[in-house]
Amino acid sequence: MLKAMYTHLQSRDSDRPPVTLTTLAQMKHQGEKIACLTAYDASFAALLDAAGVDVVLVGDSLGMVIQGHDTTVPVTMDHMVYHCAAVSRGLSRPFLMADLPFMSYSSPELALANAVRLMQEGGASMLKLESGPGQTDTVAYLARHDIAVCAHLGLKPQSVHKTGGFRVQGREDAAAERMLRDARALEAAGADMVLLECVPAALGRSITEAIRVPVIGIGAGPGTDGQILVLYDILDLTPGRKPRFTRNFMDGSASPQAAIARYVQAVKSGEYPAPEHCF
Ligand code: KIV
Repeated sequence: MLKAMYTHLQSRDSDRPPVTLTTLAQMKHQGEKIACLTAYDASFAALLDAAGVDVVLVGDSLGMVIQGHDTTVPVTMDHMVYHCAAVSRGLSRPFLMADLPFMSYSSPELALANAVRLMQEGGASMLKLESGPGQTDTVAYLARHDIAVCAHLGLKPQSVHKTGGFRVQGREDAAAERMLRDARALEAAGADMVLLECVPAALGRSITEAIRVPVIGIGAGPGTDGQILVLYDILDLTPGRKPRFTRNFMDGSASPQAAIARYVQAVKSGEYPAPEHCF
């Protein structure tokens, strides 16, 4: 316990202090792009840390890229805790966010119990949940318990069986207005970050400008405060056709470490995403 405490104090004073919500708020304010990636194990987590990634997400995408399922639905809390603890052991600077998996937040009380597991056993600093008007009470409940929350809007992979597939969301005016309203309501309920997946670039920008908390995009255009991609996609490890918004950073890189560093640089400079990655 003492060792952990001293380690934390030392790293706070080092030239690579840990990223916190305050850091991310400052980055939004100053217009510095936030570079985020997923990770599922300690070795890749250490590579992401060394390459300057700001936020690492232990995504339930692990159901697809690690476990080989067609969707994220089979992922359980035990899977998430196992991978989150591994990632956490590989990190010192980045902010660590973890997904609450399918049906692990179907009531505010269940969400709190599972958030506590991911923080205490997994070492997460923030929980992400696929959100909408139905989750404002849960977000408010977590916020009342001082749990940092990211609200995931747009394409919600845990709902694909209901929504009919992996599709761009918010194309029609009414759907775009609803999403903007949801983002505002979730921020008012206490969300500390919003993640937008697969939405038109214009909507990504207008939501980012409408709320104070950082907005991270995946297939949401260049106007968000930061970008996230699935690590295995940028390293070209995933078989088959890739989503339009992703980019193979291994192409032209000598090593995974170099590819991850190029991704960070491309996000920070605004070179990624380019028009061909946008909807
Ligand atoms: O599960 C995941 O990796 C995610 C990202 C695609 C944002 O939610």
